[in-house]
Amino acid sequence: MIFVCAGSFDPVTNGHIDIIERASILCDKLIVVVLKNSVKIPTFTLDDRLDLLRRVLGHLPNVEIDHYAGLLVDYMKLKKARVIVKGLRAVSDYEYEMQMAHINKTQYPEVETLFMTASINYSYLSSSFVKELARNGGNIDFFVPSIIKDLILGKLKDTGGN
Ligand code: PNS
Repeated sequence: MIFVCAGSFDPVTNGHIDIIERASILCDKLIVVVLKNSVKIPTFTLDDRLDLLRRVLGHLPNVEIDHYAGLLVDYMKLKKARVIVKGLRAVSDYEYEMQMAHINKTQYPEVETLFMTASINYSYLSSSFVKELARNGGNIDFFVPSIIKDLILGKLKDTGGN
């Protein structure tokens, strides 16, 4: 079975990696797809986000990385995949994710959204907080793999911290 883990990954964090590693054990193939979130302006370019994902997910043989410009449901149809995997952190994620799961089902009734609970260590982590810490000289060691830490810090410097 193919699972699809969709997000903006701006940038990928240990929280995403935790969900991807755990979900990849449950399926034959897991596709990590970078999509557009219409309410967020990304900090990192699409190429940078894909590069960071490739650097931190290379150890997972059944994980593919992709990107798509349209609706997640259309991507699911294209890939003949029916399972969307989402990580749920706190109650605050719940309403938004439920809404999206129901909207997606109206467009593609065969699609199922599988929610996985974020590990307790990462249940308060978000890409936005990583960026805020990084921009202001905070320590991001606990939140992103060491192999991409300097890239993230460097890119934020390049963009003037935006
Ligand atoms: O990591 P994010 O930003 O919470 O991920 C949200 C994302 C990108 C998965 C979501 O915005 C999305 O599915 N975007 C693609 C367009 C789409 O299908 N929207 C949902 C129905 S309107």
